[in-house]
Amino acid sequence: MCGIVGYIGTEDAKEILLRGLEKLEYRGYDSAGIAVRADDVTHVFKEKGRIATLREAVADDVAASVGIGHTRWATHGVPSQLNAHPHQSSTERFTLVHNGVIENYEQLQREHLCNVHVQSDTDTEIIVQLIEQFSGDGLTTEEAVRKALSLMKGSYAIALLDKDDPETIFVGKNKSPLLIGVGDGVNVIASDAMAMLSVTDEFVEIMDEELVLVQREGITIQTLDGKEQTRDSYRAELDASDIEKGTYPHFMLKEIDEQPFVIRNIVQKYQHEDGSTRLDGDIRAAMQQSDRIYIIAAGTSYHAGLVGKQLLERIAGKPVEVHIASEFLYNMPLLSDNPLFVFISQSGETADSRGVLVNVKKQGHRTLTITNVPGSTLSREADYTLHTFAGPEIAVASTKAYTAQMAVLTLLAVDTAHAAGIELDFDPLQELGIVANAMEALCDQKEELEQIAREYLSVTRNAFFIGRAVDYYVAMEGALKLKEISYIQAEGFAGGELKHGTIALIEEGTPVLALATQSEVHWSIRGNVKEVAARGAAPVIISMEGHEQEGDALVLPRVHELLAPLVSVIPTQLIAYYAALHRGCDVDKPRNLAKSVTVE
Ligand code: G6P
Repeated sequence: MCGIVGYIGTEDAKEILLRGLEKLEYRGYDSAGIAVRADDVTHVFKEKGRIATLREAVADDVAASVGIGHTRWATHGVPSQLNAHPHQSSTERFTLVHNGVIENYEQLQREHLCNVHVQSDTDTEIIVQLIEQFSGDGLTTEEAVRKALSLMKGSYAIALLDKDDPETIFVGKNKSPLLIGVGDGVNVIASDAMAMLSVTDEFVEIMDEELVLVQREGITIQTLDGKEQTRDSYRAELDASDIEKGTYPHFMLKEIDEQPFVIRNIVQKYQHEDGSTRLDGDIRAAMQQSDRIYIIAAGTSYHAGLVGKQLLERIAGKPVEVHIASEFLYNMPLLSDNPLFVFISQSGETADSRGVLVNVKKQGHRTLTITNVPGSTLSREADYTLHTFAGPEIAVASTKAYTAQMAVLTLLAVDTAHAAGIELDFDPLQELGIVANAMEALCDQKEELEQIAREYLSVTRNAFFIGRAVDYYVAMEGALKLKEISYIQAEGFAGGELKHGTIALIEEGTPVLALATQSEVHWSIRGNVKEVAARGAAPVIISMEGHEQEGDALVLPRVHELLAPLVSVIPTQLIAYYAALHRGCDVDKPRNLAKSVTVE
């Protein structure tokens, strides 16, 4: 979703901002822009479409060492050059970029800007016009920004340039993520540390409802009522090479291939030398004290949560409910006496999940975040964090973060079982090692999987994924992956449910990918395959060693059945990847999607 960068230093701001925006491309966007200050003028360049288009539009001869930049994911107003950020006030004195949604912008416009001609359809332009209005009333820029921010309801991260104050970038935030990067004679701002790693790896967090004055020689953090704050910086533990594609054509393919390593890494991080799990004692105690776990997540993380429920219930005997974050507050179940809320989020920034976190914390419930980004909002604000150690995930379609989440959930279940004195009849850590080997073997079968994608998915309009038990959850994830990047209408169904309506959509040649990894249900899913095949469907069965049958399209190496989702998802990821590739889609940056969804 929208991304912000800013730079004040001594080098060419244009290039640093453009490179920063390129690093934020993964978040998803539909237009982009930068503003730099040179020769007493703020020069704005913005374009609909890709950063490459913006790059061509940026004038080479503007020499500037201060500027701000933005990638926009449209919420208010269509993607267009006019609605792209930065936005300027009527006199062009103030120039602003903004992430988030201002819920009361129409009211603010009515109350304060009735004589101002607003050009774009965005809520953002209202902010910059308000600041100009308040500064026209005699306030300093700092006071005008503070006043505007305190009137705004909703979520925002903003960066503002004032033509009359070339030495300051004014920065504020509420709910939307934003960081300040600090260096020697240079300071930067970024929605995600990786955008500015080429300048610095030292960052300072900004809290909600703070205003920060970013200058070359230092930063000043204040609350909205003007109280100065001091805060230590931290070193971002990111390796710049992790966010490069290397020899891979796409980040998604690289990230799929990284999964065996990620699983081994997680085992290593969470395993004591004697083989026992190494989880924070407080997390163990919170798990033990809770009588029910409520998993809250969105998208792919929600699918990992569904598998997590099976793991926690079957391994640790803990009752678990899994809820879609955006629905939870409006469909709140009756809670148990001692709930523990577990938020699963790759980015740690999903606004819907954060909405639930804030609400349940107010009610006094304990919270744990499982995330790939330890300094993220959900991680900071929850009582406890479990890191998934998957490394930066850049492709919008989540792959390695999903398997990492399931691996961490396995370890959480095992740790909880041990703490409760439950004897397991298998060694989960050893089984995760077997999973990593199986993943590796599947990543080596790209040609076969490309062939399946070519044969079944090159031209089809729709596709179905079916499974039973945990295979059903992987079917949902497989379908999501396929639709996200190939735009094929794909649905994941419980094998037995298809005939209650959806089977009406099966036509001659409709691809139906069936997952059959579970011994208890593999015959019944094969029965469901027969039902659709009898109506013309083209079935593709993915089974597992031990119960494979003649005609199965792919047989997975044998792993413990509870952990089968970590392995069976790999072919669905690769099939989606090759389907998207054959259909000429932009694999890493699918249309309309954002990696980090910071609006509700
Ligand atoms: C977006 C992404 C999905 C992701 C979902 C939840 O929709 O495109 O890939 O699964 O958000 O994100 P989170 O960061 O909370 O896991």
